[in-house]
Amino acid sequence: ASGYIGIDIGGTNLRGALVRPGGEVMARFRSKSAIEGGADSFLMRLTEEIDRLIVEARVSGLQVSGVGVGVPGLIGSDGVIHSSVNLRPLEGMNLSRSLEDRLGIPVISANDANLIALGEAWAGAGQGMRSLMVITIGTGLGSGLILDGKLWTGAGGFAAEFGHLTVEPEGIPCPCGNRGCLEQYVSAAALSRYGRGKTPEVLALLAGEGDTDACAAFETLGYWLGTALAGLVNTLNLEGVIIGGGVSASFDLFAPAVLQTLKQRAFPRMVAALKLCQAALGDDAGLVGGALLAAGKSF
Ligand code: BGC
Ligand code: NA
Ligand code: ZN
Repeated sequence: ASGYIGIDIGGTNLRGALVRPGGEVMARFRSKSAIEGGADSFLMRLTEEIDRLIVEARVSGLQVSGVGVGVPGLIGSDGVIHSSVNLRPLEGMNLSRSLEDRLGIPVISANDANLIALGEAWAGAGQGMRSLMVITIGTGLGSGLILDGKLWTGAGGFAAEFGHLTVEPEGIPCPCGNRGCLEQYVSAAALSRYGRGKTPEVLALLAGEGDTDACAAFETLGYWLGTALAGLVNTLNLEGVIIGGGVSASFDLFAPAVLQTLKQRAFPRMVAALKLCQAALGDDAGLVGGALLAAGKSF
């Protein structure tokens, strides 16, 4: 039987999993993306981790037939990473080709959030929805847009960079070159800033105990996300917005503020038609999406 490997290169963590064609995760690894040491040593580490999964697959009687890699940036259809604002050393690399050369099996790479969107649509909270946006909130804010049952990739393959939507025209500078991008207001770092430097985990604990400052930090994040989503919902009349990524562990702490802002800013009919929910696959979404894409799955 065939197995597939999904890889998620996050702004912070590097993760991978061996996945069965049905979406079941068999084995995983997790380490730090830590790419500052240079692209070559990063590639070597990644290849070793993948090789280890290939061996594990063999032990359980699976032959790995493809790898799908999620990259936090703009990936051309040629596999070249054109931009990766939170992981600059990746820029200019043809990750698919480099990995294929080393592994000898087909590798597809795609935007990390697009793979999370596919994972959630195929096997998670988006099953049965035809038009949805999946947003991942972590180091950056990524998104994948599925319209009428198809991942929307746009004119050049780069579509759905919702994290770089301007929400504050003269706002905080963003590494992408713009200022006031949503990512500067809705991300793990933004949440810490609202919470006077405390980490998202500490803020979640405090908010769970009813600490008003911690609760307010989550509400501020929800306010900005709701503000940005109002325009999107009015534009696209989506069925669902699914929130994943590390910060989504605290969904219940910020979702009410998102909904409240949406109700204030978007058309009531469109807000009523919308399901706002937490990703069902958690950290696995991008891995499952990458593996299933490599398996040739389509809508
Ligand atoms: C990048 C996206 C990526 C997101 C999450 C953003 O800064 O521009 O391509 O999907 O971070 O990693
Ligand atoms: Na995307
Ligand atoms: Zn930006």
